[in-house]
Amino acid sequence: MDLSPATPPFTVRELLHVGVASSQPEALAAFIERVLGLPVAERAADGTAYVRCDGYDHRLAIVPSHRIGLAYIDLLLADDWELERAAAWLAEQGVPYREGTRAECVARRVAGFVEVADPEGRAVALCYGPLWQGTRVAFPRAWSALGLGHVGLKCREPRSVYRFYRDVLGFRLSDQVGMESAYFVHCADAKHHSVAILPWGPAARHELDHVMFEVPALDDVMLAYYALLAEAPDRTQRPVRHPPSNTISVYVIGPDGYRLELGFGHRRVDPATHVARTLAPASFADYWGGRATDPVQAP
Ligand SMILES: [Fe+2]
Repeated sequence: MDLSPATPPFTVRELLHVGVASSQPEALAAFIERVLGLPVAERAADGTAYVRCDGYDHRLAIVPSHRIGLAYIDLLLADDWELERAAAWLAEQGVPYREGTRAECVARRVAGFVEVADPEGRAVALCYGPLWQGTRVAFPRAWSALGLGHVGLKCREPRSVYRFYRDVLGFRLSDQVGMESAYFVHCADAKHHSVAILPWGPAARHELDHVMFEVPALDDVMLAYYALLAEAPDRTQRPVRHPPSNTISVYVIGPDGYRLELGFGHRRVDPATHVARTLAPASFADYWGGRATDPVQAP
């Protein structure tokens, strides 16, 4: 067992942005705005669409691409001093990284970032100085959102990806499923998970399993559920309560094939006292007995 004494000299504060690559960015942006109910605040000259749901400039960026899936994950650090310490530490640890160019920082809406690759090649950036709008968000549907919750990754080697988040980025384990099949990890904002490290699975088509947005009330979940059911019945899954995090969620399968989740009641953990559990594989998906892994659960 490798027991490195090194502890990252920085603290990931929260999951800041998720960037998704799309070969049909307009269709995806239209779906997210008109069906999922999260407004597209801006379309940049390069075609990137920025989706807002709280005071930050955006939380989801839809990046035009020849491929579909995850473009990058942005993680928030406190400031430039912490970013410099992170870069120095990555160099000391022999972890390859690159600094974001000025043009990239403008596109990512941050003051600076360094980017590393997880063991399966996904781009993960440590950022500071995210652009903040602060104005009230005009949600186009009857429900609203509080912010970005978490990202779910489908991984060929979940344990390697988990160890990357733990050892390189300083995340800690919230819960795992089975012995080595899935891991939920948290950072300083204490959400039960900001990243869900999930197994690839025989039916997997995407490295990205889902992106979750937190909503303020159970009413938002159910308002969204019945609207989604009416407008996208073949893409909408029944509400579930996930036992590990207590979240009550509805999922809809987006145009690019991965799921988009609206969830209420996501558990916060106390990083100082939290004890990670091993969840029985058959019982973690839905406290109410539904099968959240079914592709579609419309009546
Ligand atoms: Fe989720």
